[in-house]
Amino acid sequence: MSVESLVQSLQKAELHIHIEGSIEPELMFKLAGRNRLELPYESVTDLHEAYQFNNLQEFLDLYYDGISVLREEEDFYDMTCEYLDRAKADNVNHVELFFDPQAHTERGISMDTVMRGLFRAFRKKEDQHFKVRPIMCFLRHLSESEAFEALELADPYRDVILGVGLDSSEVGHPPSKFRNVFEEARRQGYRLVAHAGEEGPPEYIWEALDVLGVERLDHGNRALEDSTLMNRLERERIPLTMCPLSNLKLCVVDTLKEHPLRRMLDAGVVATINSDDPAYFGGYINRNYVAVAKALKLSEAELNGLAENSQIARFN
Ligand code: HPA
Ligand code: ZN
Repeated sequence: MSVESLVQSLQKAELHIHIEGSIEPELMFKLAGRNRLELPYESVTDLHEAYQFNNLQEFLDLYYDGISVLREEEDFYDMTCEYLDRAKADNVNHVELFFDPQAHTERGISMDTVMRGLFRAFRKKEDQHFKVRPIMCFLRHLSESEAFEALELADPYRDVILGVGLDSSEVGHPPSKFRNVFEEARRQGYRLVAHAGEEGPPEYIWEALDVLGVERLDHGNRALEDSTLMNRLERERIPLTMCPLSNLKLCVVDTLKEHPLRRMLDAGVVATINSDDPAYFGGYINRNYVAVAKALKLSEAELNGLAENSQIARFN
């Protein structure tokens, strides 16, 4: 069997997808047209060509620009439906989906508009074999008090939002900056995750675990630099949601051959493969599996194990 067919046959959970990073250039033009907005690009090809990044921040600058095409409930609905169709086509049975409420509310879009669009898409696409749960992320380049405001705006949706996470520019914004808001989120019953160790040092991973109390880490690549931390991840079975094509596009790794996934698996860490911002990074979940499988020469058993890890690492 080819790697592609094997990957297709595996039932996978997607645990690290930023829904706003799933707006394909075609959809971006369509939404811009519908909302009478000018994009600083002539064509879909121009947009594809602009997607060259040297680091996380260069990507985030384009990501926040791209988000500006989302204005109406229908825009959030269309974006989410497109992604969920792609996930289903990749044989995903469960999605824990990140969204960035502050990236919308700070532009004057109401939380209701965002949530209605997302939930209408979930209801349309969910079935017995396909479940979707949202995780709201706080933007770490903003203040903790702004994160508290976002948490408050989410209050009417507390029962339907699975958890909270932490994303955006990592270096200079350690997890400890959000100690109090994560404590409150935990008190309110949210599950907790955070991006850590994508560009930031191992100390940020320690803080995510010990100060925020997260149950799962997004990326976590740089744990490899700290053997005590690696032992902890293995012993406590703390899952990592890794994103190979993202790491390649954002120069977190120079080549996929040196992707930390191999060393994570060898160390017994519960690592999973995910797509992060697939419209920007060149592929959805199956492409991530295939690319890293080829680069690291993963065996069939290892690929099975990765899909199993994704089901182990999901929250519900
Ligand atoms: N990393 C950090 N923050 C993000 C990302 C990412 O890849 N995508 C959207 N927000
Ligand atoms: Zn991410």
